[in-house]
Amino acid sequence: MFSTVDQASGDRYATTTSDPLETEKLLRDTADTLVKYLTSSNDVSAPVVKLSSPDSMESDFAAVGVPLELRDGEGPVSGPDLHKALETTLDLCVRTSHPYFLNQLYAGADRAGVAADWAVVAANTNVHTYEVAPVFTMVEQKVLQKLARVIGGRFQAASDGLFVPGGSIANTYAMHLARRRADPAANTRGMAGGPRLVAFTSEHAHYSYKKAAMLMGLGSDNLVAVACDAAGAMKPDALRSAMQEARDKGKIPFFIGATAGTTVTGAFDPFLALADVAEAEHAWLHVDGAWGGAALLSPTARIELMAGSARADSVAWNAHKLMGMPLQCSAFVTAHPGALKVRDTCHHTPGVPQRTPCHPG
Ligand SMILES: Cc1ncc(COP(=O)(O)O)c(C=O)c1O
Repeated sequence: MFSTVDQASGDRYATTTSDPLETEKLLRDTADTLVKYLTSSNDVSAPVVKLSSPDSMESDFAAVGVPLELRDGEGPVSGPDLHKALETTLDLCVRTSHPYFLNQLYAGADRAGVAADWAVVAANTNVHTYEVAPVFTMVEQKVLQKLARVIGGRFQAASDGLFVPGGSIANTYAMHLARRRADPAANTRGMAGGPRLVAFTSEHAHYSYKKAAMLMGLGSDNLVAVACDAAGAMKPDALRSAMQEARDKGKIPFFIGATAGTTVTGAFDPFLALADVAEAEHAWLHVDGAWGGAALLSPTARIELMAGSARADSVAWNAHKLMGMPLQCSAFVTAHPGALKVRDTCHHTPGVPQRTPCHPG
């Protein structure tokens, strides 16, 4: 395994032994322990968690020879000690596959998904170019195309997307693409000197919209929280009035951040009515389906809750929530092919298939 030396102090940092046999044993023991952990996870006689204080956790890890504190000058950890640390970790973890794990938003993990995650870690590739990750590039494309077909409508005809590190980032991508459409020069000029753009979400929308507004330099004052009905869904009339008010102040409404399944109450915004508003106002409609996007998989819920979502410009979908994929599995899908392409730069090899092609053909 890896070992590096701090040139200044001479300290040696290593993960564990460099002996190949010990390394292989560590991998086999790890696999056995993890399989046992998963197959026993529905044992209701075990607690969901043995909640431990930080001090007691520090002593537990020190007792097995792998202190949590990364002390200077320590040598490498042995394979057997590392394995004991794994057992201690699993013992002190919250068992999210336990039938009594009733925390919010997610639980357990599909076993095939766990196996796939292990494969991804073992392959250790970065899906940034086709050359370095041909299989995973294809897998990503095909899964995103399937999600687009499930969303349906305009997404079936044409789509693009990415797996991203969370629903918050997916919402940020949406707002960013919306700004690029409303003010293409903003990417190079910056926000200063451009049109006064304003975005709209419901008062129950996830706080990631606010973070996105701050990160993009839009400013949270230019993110309007639209009033909701008693069920927590955005009121289309309130949206229309808020947009008009913004226009009266010389601002340009460019983005409507709708939600399929609000974080606290699980409300679904009325996408059909919101799509009408978005089309009339030439605003980008994004559906944050991080929590409730999987309602599209139910023949009744897709009509009762998701109608109109296929008219959106983009959708965020966290498969680690209602679909039980292992954390973190978040898709961003847009109905605008090529929208994710960085237009001014191209690092791709002509003729080699890319996730978002730069070269015709
Ligand atoms: C509606 C909604 N949107 C976005 C997010 C953010 O997702 P993530 O935690 O994957 O960034 C959440 C998370 O709870 C959510 O409930």
